[in-house]
Amino acid sequence: MLNDIINIAKEAGGVIREGFGKKNQIEFKTNETNLVTEVDKASEKLIIDFVARKYPSHGILAEEGGAIKHGSEYLWIIDPLDGTTNFAHGLPVFSVSIGLQKNKETIAGVVYDVMFDVVYSAEKGSGSFANHNKMSVSTNDIIGRSVLATGFPYNVFDNPDNLLEKFTAMTRLARGVRRLGSAALDLCYLAKGVFDGYWEMNLNPWDICAGILLVEEAGGMVTDFNNQQIDMYTKKILATNGRIHQQMLDILQKYE
Ligand code: IPD
Ligand code: CA
Ligand code: CA
Repeated sequence: MLNDIINIAKEAGGVIREGFGKKNQIEFKTNETNLVTEVDKASEKLIIDFVARKYPSHGILAEEGGAIKHGSEYLWIIDPLDGTTNFAHGLPVFSVSIGLQKNKETIAGVVYDVMFDVVYSAEKGSGSFANHNKMSVSTNDIIGRSVLATGFPYNVFDNPDNLLEKFTAMTRLARGVRRLGSAALDLCYLAKGVFDGYWEMNLNPWDICAGILLVEEAGGMVTDFNNQQIDMYTKKILATNGRIHQQMLDILQKYE
């Protein structure tokens, strides 16, 4: 099934590449910062049609369509275009993210970096790969030498849970803090050892399902801000190389 996921993610990426830089129809979802384009919808349709055709009994949870079918032991969790704001503004940083769960456990995850043509993939128990190269998280244990990543939810202007205070504190401590605009890619860069730590709030299952497995299979640690194990429904995610986890937890808890 992993090959099927990779192939359909790449095919969806082709649709996105084709639409990139063209004039897109933009609609607003919850507010003017929360966008969806016809390319998000086309990518999602391609993936969903594939699953419905090849695995008709499987369940699907996809961002633009919501929960499409329940009741199967298998569930596909799909973000057809992660990084829609970047895409709509011509910034070439976005991905397709597909996770596959069996009996509520993530067994496979694929994130396709559309413009760099890199497939990030993981199967439970078999490691994480960038194309065919095995990935490992970094070994840095000093936050002052770390590059961290984060993102902001679409209600950032309400500053829920002091998210700007947390951002300020991390920025004061780390070597650098990046905000790429695709949570799925943030987690891939963490798995690859590029980022040492990543935190974010108010994400959805399709943003992180595949990415959590990629990080864990690359030897990283993923918890909530109380150091508890998380699943894809958790609204506060901290993912690190393990070595700077406690240092980042201390900051996140200080500004809770
Ligand atoms: C968004 C991206 C972004 C994150 C947002 C997400 P979308 O997903 O992952 O990095 O900060 O919270 O909603 O809307 O582009 O699929
Ligand atoms: Ca997303
Ligand atoms: Ca999306």
